[in-house]
Amino acid sequence: MTESTTEPARQDLHHPHPPTLTTEVSFPQDRGCPYHPPTAYAPLRETAPLGRITLFDGTWAHVVTGHALARRLLADPRLSSDRTRADFPATTERLAKTRARRVALLGVDDPEHNAQRRLLIPSFSVKRIAALRPRIQETVDRLLDAMERQGPPAELVGAFALPVPSMVICSLLGVPYADHEFFEERSRRLLRGPAAADVEQARVELEGYLGDLIDRKRRQPGDGLLDELIHRDGPDGPPDRDQLIAYAVILLIAGHETTANMISLGTFTLLRHPGQLAALRSGETTTAVVVEELLRYLSIADGLLRVANEDMEVEGRTIRAGEGVVFSTSLINRDEGAFPGADALDWDRSARHHLAFGFGIHQCLGQNLARAELDIALRTLFGRLPGLRLAAPAEEIPFKPGDTIQGMLELPVAW
Ligand code: HEM
Repeated sequence: MTESTTEPARQDLHHPHPPTLTTEVSFPQDRGCPYHPPTAYAPLRETAPLGRITLFDGTWAHVVTGHALARRLLADPRLSSDRTRADFPATTERLAKTRARRVALLGVDDPEHNAQRRLLIPSFSVKRIAALRPRIQETVDRLLDAMERQGPPAELVGAFALPVPSMVICSLLGVPYADHEFFEERSRRLLRGPAAADVEQARVELEGYLGDLIDRKRRQPGDGLLDELIHRDGPDGPPDRDQLIAYAVILLIAGHETTANMISLGTFTLLRHPGQLAALRSGETTTAVVVEELLRYLSIADGLLRVANEDMEVEGRTIRAGEGVVFSTSLINRDEGAFPGADALDWDRSARHHLAFGFGIHQCLGQNLARAELDIALRTLFGRLPGLRLAAPAEEIPFKPGDTIQGMLELPVAW
């Protein structure tokens, strides 16, 4: 375990009660292998279920790495998701500089969060998502038709992994897919802009686009989720223009980047595990099982963020008011206590209690949709292309850096 007794000087400025020990593990770090947590996180497994990490600016935060503790704390109202607070932990410079911005749902505490969530939840029920499956299948089939017509080889991120969720979320929201390049580019910059100014500009452009779209929909109603929301009554009446834009932004971004990364990284991981892939192809296991275990194993959204509202006694330690708490899903989902043999990709385990979608009031609103998309995308891809393989050496295929949602930057394939 790497612990030292020295305090980063800046920490004293932020917190009146600096800790006596601080780990030297910095978070986040790039993965060495796209489907495993960074090896440099190993000391954090030793301090499980609760440790400390150093953030990019030299400040520190608590890090939760144990499964049972993560469930308890993610359901604890003493931890806040309010990103506008000056003491909210920032894992990247971009997050630190865009703190003042309100983020719908994800950045809001109860009771306001509950009101927002109740407005949206009917659109994401199991039944509503089941009704979308034929549309998702049609999208997947069309994209694979085009890929087969042009290939092999193909670049799977651009040809399949990104357009599947992007087309689905556009059609769900009622956003014209013809504009996908515009908002995909903006949401990429929002998630990982080269500079904070760039992030702000991307946000202004995306919000401007969505505001115009909402105005058009008021004049000429369509049949998407945004059209429904314009007229859906919440506790304070229907949402206003700014609220509608905020919902559209989060759904558009959360709705395609995450699932796209699961499709690309999931495919890469399956191609790197031929035994497990053979079990999927032979029907020995179902795609639903595969999707759940891949969600656990890949934990693409690593580092969920909270700040303590008040002092809390946790595992014999004190988390003080104003201190940051980071949940490392990649380590939580490899907790041996919850998932024996956690570092193996194993279809025979029960993975359903993984925290890849978070837990508690902020647990992923789109999880039913994500599961449906992953199920249809992976089943159809491997079903139609039994010879699917990597078209470049695995070590040379670029994947995403640690400070964003994990996934493949490119995925060259042949069949
Ligand atoms: C495999 C794909 C996905 C993964 C791994 C994922 C992961 C997550 C995680 C971990 C959270 C909780 C964050 C926190 O507690 O701080 C979350 C929240 C959320 N996700 Fe997802 N997500 C995925 C797909 C989607 C899709 C397809 C949508 C929408 C269409 C979506 C919409 C949301 C929203 C709106 C929230 C905020 C919920 C709230 O605060 O109440 N996600 N997601």
